[in-house]
Amino acid sequence: MKLANKHIFVTGGAKGIGEAIVRDAANEGGSVSFVDIDVLAGEKLMNELVESGKKVVFFKADVANFEELKSAFTQAVSKFSDVTGVVNNAGVNSHADPVSMTDKEWDDFFAIDMKPVWLTAKLALPAMRKAKHGSIVNICSIHGRLTYPGFFPYGAAKSAVLGLTRNLALDEGKHEIRVNAVSPGYILTDLTKTWLSGEIGRLERANSIQPLGRMGEPHEVAKVVTFLLSDKSTYVSGSDWAVDGGLGARSA
Ligand SMILES: NC(=O)c1ccc[n+]([C@@H]2O[C@H](COP(=O)([O-])OP(=O)(O)OC[C@H]3O[C@@H](n4cnc5c(N)ncnc54)[C@H](O)[C@@H]3O)[C@@H](O)[C@H]2O)c1
Repeated sequence: MKLANKHIFVTGGAKGIGEAIVRDAANEGGSVSFVDIDVLAGEKLMNELVESGKKVVFFKADVANFEELKSAFTQAVSKFSDVTGVVNNAGVNSHADPVSMTDKEWDDFFAIDMKPVWLTAKLALPAMRKAKHGSIVNICSIHGRLTYPGFFPYGAAKSAVLGLTRNLALDEGKHEIRVNAVSPGYILTDLTKTWLSGEIGRLERANSIQPLGRMGEPHEVAKVVTFLLSDKSTYVSGSDWAVDGGLGARSA
């Protein structure tokens, strides 16, 4: 039980990679609180896990809204005590045109894909610093280092998540708080399936470039996240863990 006696707070935990992170953390003995904007999926997951004896609680919160996030975080602390691990997972794709994208669209996008890394740190760091213990895992992307045409400005947000990971890791290390990123490649979730279905032949092309001959499953990302949240990784900080089946090693 890698996460016994730990309280893990996950954003975007109702579906996809976040759901797999919630499941794995709960299976590893952690108390898990998670937020999402999808109330139906969040409550369904919480009920299923609680019925099977897991310590899990869900709150509706939009990560772009600090008051909602703060309220959920405070209720989670009341339920399970101080948060020892945070996973910033909630995220959306962006396929904007740099000319027609509006100020609001830009701000709304970065409010989901980048700013919450800071907002959750604001909420979780005071207790972590006091306890001299904590682990933060930021779900980045292969797009943090290499991107793909038509993803403006997703690459910028994910590069910023890597930068924030380094800033936080260096500043919080003295409090024995570790901060790492996990960068998935193509993982089969709703987000990826929607994109893959957007153009004829895209799925076949995406499959053909995978070094392992297949795309990844959400639980394969979750296992790495659990490791980084656990005391199995006590000397790992400031790093970016690629979970991309080798795709990031490929040229052309
Ligand atoms: N799937 C991939 O191949 C892939 C690859 C690289 C990185 N990622 C990253 O992994 C993370 C999860 O992606 P996924 O594929 O599981 O996506 P998904 O769309 O399947 O799930 C995302 C979850 O986040 C929630 N969410 C979205 N906006 C939110 C908001 N404003 N507030 C709270 N919750 C919100 C959604 O309701 C959903 O439950 C994202 O940060 C994404 O950028 C995914």
